[in-house]
Amino acid sequence: MVRPILLRFSLIALVLAAPAMAADKAQLSIDASKGGAKIDRNIFGQFAEHLGSGIYGGIWVGPDSPIPNTRGIRNDVVAALRAIKVPNVRWPGGCFADEYHWRKGIGARAATLNPNWGGVIEPNTFGTHEFMDFLDQIGSEAYLSVNVGSGTPQEAAEWLEYLTAAQPTALAKERAANGHQAPYKVAYLGIGNESWACGGNMTADYYVDQLKIYTRFVRNYNPAQQSKPMLKIAVGPGGPDTQWTETVMKAHQGHEWSWDIDGLSLHSYTVVKWPPAYASVGFGVNEYAQILKSTLEMEDLVSKQSAVMDKYDPQKKVALVVDEWGAWYAPLPGSNPGFLVQQNSLRDAVLASLNLNIFARHADRVRMANIAQMINVLQAMIMTDKEKMVLTPTYHVFKMYVPFQDATFVPVSFDAGRYTHGNITLPRLDAIAAKDSSGKLWLAITNVDPEQSVEIDAALPGIAAKSASGETLTATKVDSVNTFDAPNTVAPKPAAVKVDGGKLTLKLEPKSVTVIGIEQ
Ligand code: AHR
Repeated sequence: MVRPILLRFSLIALVLAAPAMAADKAQLSIDASKGGAKIDRNIFGQFAEHLGSGIYGGIWVGPDSPIPNTRGIRNDVVAALRAIKVPNVRWPGGCFADEYHWRKGIGARAATLNPNWGGVIEPNTFGTHEFMDFLDQIGSEAYLSVNVGSGTPQEAAEWLEYLTAAQPTALAKERAANGHQAPYKVAYLGIGNESWACGGNMTADYYVDQLKIYTRFVRNYNPAQQSKPMLKIAVGPGGPDTQWTETVMKAHQGHEWSWDIDGLSLHSYTVVKWPPAYASVGFGVNEYAQILKSTLEMEDLVSKQSAVMDKYDPQKKVALVVDEWGAWYAPLPGSNPGFLVQQNSLRDAVLASLNLNIFARHADRVRMANIAQMINVLQAMIMTDKEKMVLTPTYHVFKMYVPFQDATFVPVSFDAGRYTHGNITLPRLDAIAAKDSSGKLWLAITNVDPEQSVEIDAALPGIAAKSASGETLTATKVDSVNTFDAPNTVAPKPAAVKVDGGKLTLKLEPKSVTVIGIEQ
């Protein structure tokens, strides 16, 4: 008599448990016959400011350091960055840029202070030549931010002449005497930084007047850049401020021959509210959902700023350059709050993929972006401690997304579904697709749901798919991190994907980022 009752209970238990165990299903279709804009490789740009150990310790250890280096630049960091094909590095700031005087960082160095970031001594041992050497070593391009706040147009113009003049001017000769005969290439020039705040608290009108002067006189003389001139990027809004955008874009519409811009920046951090209070590690699903909800505001932000830009620049000549983005959390306990040290978890990997997908979907306008910041600061790719180095979950996403650099956007249709936690509802899935120059199709797909796996059935009209393979990034907890002692807690693994009869099936783990290459 007892037995059947027990059996009935265990059956009920099994049925109740089933939804949590079994994967949900979702349909997806990638129409490879259709193509959109090019996903500019520059959206995978980095930002390296003189802040905390972003430069000193993170990149620069000096030629006499026991840490293996090439001319003072860490070899381990260079190798890691080469692998993610960093397209450009924004330097020297940030707020630091508007107090940076380049002459202190060439020849005999003059120590200064870094009042923005902890008030520490800035030794200026990492200056112009070291930065350009670093770019050369990692195979990247310069995005210099010139000092508008406390500098002068003359100082900025002379910096560019020093860097780029081929003719034997006094400044070009000084560059040669300092070890570099050939002119340097400067691909991108930022005219100031956050001029509405740390860059000088300017009004938009005042900034536009400065912009006209700087874009007129700060020239690039490198003859090798005649065919691909340096692009000039104006300070844009912080977050949702469309008024600043209106002022700059209106001034630029029908601008005189004597000034021009190629980009307008946008700064937007995932912070929920200032000052940053969310912990970067030791959090749960609640904070995971809240931060991801906040990061998805990037879509609305980019759409609204693009709409204003469309009004004045319908041909989309001026790029929207999201040159500071990423998660900004509370400083790690015990760290100098001025150094912006935070951990980097699986949540940040998911967050990075969602933002990169937004930029890719706006590829016609968003042609450059720089995550803040590259090493040891905010949402970093890499963390170092003396001779130790660890790659963060965000690094792995950037590496997995390399095939999307300069690939052609391909539309994906899918039912995103919903993930609900408390009063927060998020799209459960997000995906982008693109075709690279060899014709190979790529799919990046994120499962935001931290509990539920999803089985994807994907139709691939437009190609005769033969095989597929890829990688997936997940971990046991939403706040799983890589540490110096356990560097592979969050590391990519082969994805569960196959192609059968031209259709692709793929199992997505909960809270995962997956990138698949499809061969035809
Ligand atoms: O990335 C840290 C700081 O955030 C930058 O220096 C500044 O531009 C922004 O406010």
